[in-house]
Amino acid sequence: MSDLTMRLNDVRAAFTLSAGQLARLSRQFADAMDAGLTGRESCLKMLPSFLSRPTGLEQGRFIALDFGGTNIRTLLVDLHGDGRLSVRQTLAASLKDPTAGYDYTAPTVHADELFAFLAAQVATVTAAGSADGLGFTFSYPCRQTGANRAILLHWTKEIATAGVEGKDVGELLGAALARRGLGHLAPAAIINDTVGTLLAAAYQDPWTDIGSICGTGHNTCYLELSPPAAPAPMIINMESGNFDAMPLTPFDAALDAASDKPGQQRLEKMAAGRYLGELVRLAAASLAAASSCFAAPIWQRADALSGPDVALLVADTSRTLTRIEHWLSGRFGLASTLAERAALKEIAALVTARSARLVAATYAGVLLRLQSAGHTRHTIAVDGSLYEKMPGYAAILQAALAELVPDAAGYIRVRLTKNGSGIGAAVAAAMMRKSG
Ligand code: GLC
Repeated sequence: MSDLTMRLNDVRAAFTLSAGQLARLSRQFADAMDAGLTGRESCLKMLPSFLSRPTGLEQGRFIALDFGGTNIRTLLVDLHGDGRLSVRQTLAASLKDPTAGYDYTAPTVHADELFAFLAAQVATVTAAGSADGLGFTFSYPCRQTGANRAILLHWTKEIATAGVEGKDVGELLGAALARRGLGHLAPAAIINDTVGTLLAAAYQDPWTDIGSICGTGHNTCYLELSPPAAPAPMIINMESGNFDAMPLTPFDAALDAASDKPGQQRLEKMAAGRYLGELVRLAAASLAAASSCFAAPIWQRADALSGPDVALLVADTSRTLTRIEHWLSGRFGLASTLAERAALKEIAALVTARSARLVAATYAGVLLRLQSAGHTRHTIAVDGSLYEKMPGYAAILQAALAELVPDAAGYIRVRLTKNGSGIGAAVAAAMMRKSG
């Protein structure tokens, strides 16, 4: 056996999770949910949203401001009141443009500048016509005391803008809008993107009771039927990216140690698009002693690979792996053998499959809880670039869910809910208008 093959065997063993391990994780996840809900120590924050499921009868034209990563989107959404909705306009902007020399996610930038930028996006969309209200998707862990009051506990996903942690982001946005003469658009609801995804899907499909993001970050929410200290069902943002019962590989440990917040967001660092490229890079670097390609300095450079790079590696199914060959030479000036390309492709596939299987184990954990409450059918709404665009991802996730949940095919539907994170903010704003 060649040295490369042997080292690849180690990588394979490190990233592979058995059906038994997944089943154990799903039970541990259900236990962590219960602990978090009942105020015991837990890696799951179980944050109340103060929202339940929409009826589908909500109506009107709403602005949705969606801030969840380095890109923000502003949508104008028409809710027709019969389960149908249409997106009239979408404006996308980046919070970070190195060539233009700005980065609103940097620790040197203050909250006021960031929120002024967000308000400017809203102003552009309102210039096209009036709206009945605004919903704000803010995809970071927040302690809510009402549907439109949300205090940022701490940033995740390597965002570090100063002066936002510990503040009510609804107030910050409201103030920035007021400075532009748009005080009437102070957010009617502030929601997590997982909650938005659940609401957007539930507007059309009443069986939806789980909402999840598999994109830059990873997190899941669900409809809790008997939340402690609340009289009615409520959507709970679990912040499941912080789940931490998984076995860690040396690559996970290295990634975590070099991250902004070591020890936090363990699952997210194993499953989300923001980190998959880095895991592939670290695992490839471990083959250095057995390969001249992987001994090149580029494999020592943090963040040399992105999520889309991983997708390219997974997608090349040609016999000679020609796309990978061109990518290695064009992007990094590296020559490669077929064995090296095959190793790299396999690492990408292993990292991707582990992500999808871990996520499926957490869904199975939620289903354990929901089924014990006697639910029958479930729709799991998923949004995010990883789920949507990574070749094979959705299929691996479904297969793992089928392994974990008996008869899943019969009564559990996993459905891609594109732009759900944004559209859901419009649904939430409409729900608040009705109840307010
Ligand atoms: C991070 C955030 C979480 C969000 C997820 C997906 O995990 O903490 O709030 O839902 O990313 O964007």
